[in-house]
Amino acid sequence: MEIYAIELTSRCNLRCHYCPQPSMQRAKEDMPLEVFEKTLDYPFWKDVVAGHLFGEALLHPDLIDITRLCHERGLAFGFSTNAVLLEMDYLKKLIDAGLAWIMISFHIPRAKDWVEAIQKAFPKFPVLSSTLEIKHDWAGQVTSRRVVNYANLGDCIFHTYNLVSISAQAEILPCCIDVEARQSMGPLFDLTPEAFAAKENKVWFDLCAQCHMRDNPENLDALYAAYQAMGDKIHRYYKSTAD
Ligand SMILES: C[S@@+](CC[C@H](N)C(=O)[O-])C[C@H]1O[C@@H](n2cnc3c(N)ncnc32)[C@H](O)[C@@H]1O
Ligand code: SF4
Ligand code: SF4
Repeated sequence: MEIYAIELTSRCNLRCHYCPQPSMQRAKEDMPLEVFEKTLDYPFWKDVVAGHLFGEALLHPDLIDITRLCHERGLAFGFSTNAVLLEMDYLKKLIDAGLAWIMISFHIPRAKDWVEAIQKAFPKFPVLSSTLEIKHDWAGQVTSRRVVNYANLGDCIFHTYNLVSISAQAEILPCCIDVEARQSMGPLFDLTPEAFAAKENKVWFDLCAQCHMRDNPENLDALYAAYQAMGDKIHRYYKSTAD
């Protein structure tokens, strides 16, 4: 298996109605720096560390140290953010520490302006957007009327490409959908990095029946190719900063 995303924190400073984090019953807390450091011994998908799951990474007090640790290991670290706490000086410190990419989510109106402002200040730095034009319902976990459920009866990238996420409590989650860790595959550190890499993720559970992540193999391959292109872009930038 490989790690698709890691939850640096499960705390958030917004309450988006289309996200299951606000009503999450799991502990809302930061992953301690020393715990995060231990996770770096495990394989990350494409050597890209995505430091978000259900929470807001900018709330983590050790974000610069986390960025530096990833950079020292040659891992391309970045995260998706609601941009509420974003400041250009702080972003520069993160980039100087080795931040390889950022994704801005369009939850608040001024988030869009950040994309342009960052591109202007750091023209080569990869800035991605989560525009939220179509909002899914997290496999039925949010019931807001403005989200859609468009599940197809296929597989998901987590099974097909053997990926998992890691919660702020360092539990292995079968995907990026399981907000309550109801289908936890156990504590990460119960497995050696080698045993983790050799393990298969074929976990099906109740949420899978109505999950928007399920799709036919062609569409999953297209999605994988899009992620691959994004990973290549991030690595090109990342390599250019080391030259
Ligand atoms: C749960 S958020 C956590 C990271 C951070 N707090 C943020 O909002 O960017 C992870 C990703 O899910 C996206 N997201 C949240 N709710 C969504 C929904 N209903 N449909 C599609 N994407 C969603 C966010 O834009 C973000 O890119
Ligand atoms: S989408 Fe992100 S910003 Fe909005 S509530 Fe969920 S975790 Fe917080
Ligand atoms: S809920 Fe099931 S189908 Fe959906 S992403 Fe998770 S493991 Fe895959």
